Amino acid sequence: MISKIKRKLNTYRSIKHKGFNLPITRTNQGLNDNENYLNSSKEQIDHLVSLKLINETSNVLDFGSGQGRLVNGLKFANINIEEYVGVDTDANSIKWCNRFLNNYNMNLKFVHLPAFNARYNKSANGLLELPVENNKFDLVFLNSVFSHMMSNDIAFYLKEFNRIINKNGAIYLTAFTEENVPNVSENPIDYLNETNKNGSLHRVRYEINYFNSLIKNSGLKIEHYLHQHIDWSKQSVFVLKK
Ligand SMILES: C[S@@+](CC[C@H](N)C(=O)[O-])C[C@H]1O[C@@H](n2cnc3c(N)ncnc32)[C@H](O)[C@@H]1O
Repeated sequence: MISKIKRKLNTYRSIKHKGFNLPITRTNQGLNDNENYLNSSKEQIDHLVSLKLINETSNVLDFGSGQGRLVNGLKFANINIEEYVGVDTDANSIKWCNRFLNNYNMNLKFVHLPAFNARYNKSANGLLELPVENNKFDLVFLNSVFSHMMSNDIAFYLKEFNRIINKNGAIYLTAFTEENVPNVSENPIDYLNETNKNGSLHRVRYEINYFNSLIKNSGLKIEHYLHQHIDWSKQSVFVLKK
């Protein structure tokens, strides 16, 4: 109860660090240090730039945008894009972004889409299609979102992403994927120091061939796969295209 009240209060407060507004309550494990928080985002943006997935004309959807870590990273890395839309099922995160990031001089929109997630939004009913026209986005970015979802949800959203990216568009996503493990494991004990005390969907790990089959069934193709590429979370990176 106390942590619920604290979380609510933290939607009205931010930390000022080097001119950036950073959240007090963060949904990212291992990113409590402000400098690490900004650098974690800059590293991913540098990766997106090196893969030629973003430039100043890009329309980007940040799915499961949390506290807009990507937006702070864009400002920190001094990268301009055409349009950014952040979508999240957690109302407090979207409120925080609207309060503290909307004064950045960027074309930003934060949308609350209350879809069911056993960790982040238990009161919602089922999943929701994205209120976005077909072929709209150049890039769908999702960091540490499929790592908190079971396979039916992933299959649903992969199809949605395929629908909303344009013909040259891409999806950059992270997930826990390994070889020689069961197809799907929620909070597997002893995996990356999992203790099973972190609540539902803390870490959902997938067998790599099974995860690839979810991608294939959505009609998308894997352009890059980098096992445990994200240093601070040990999640793998996938770049998908039509
Ligand atoms: C670990 S946080 C990552 C936040 C952000 N992507 C980042 O890298 O800082 C996972 C986020 O995914 C959001 N999420 C989970 N399921 C979702 C769904 N079905 N629709 C939208 N957002 C979802 C959660 O509310 C949470 O903000």
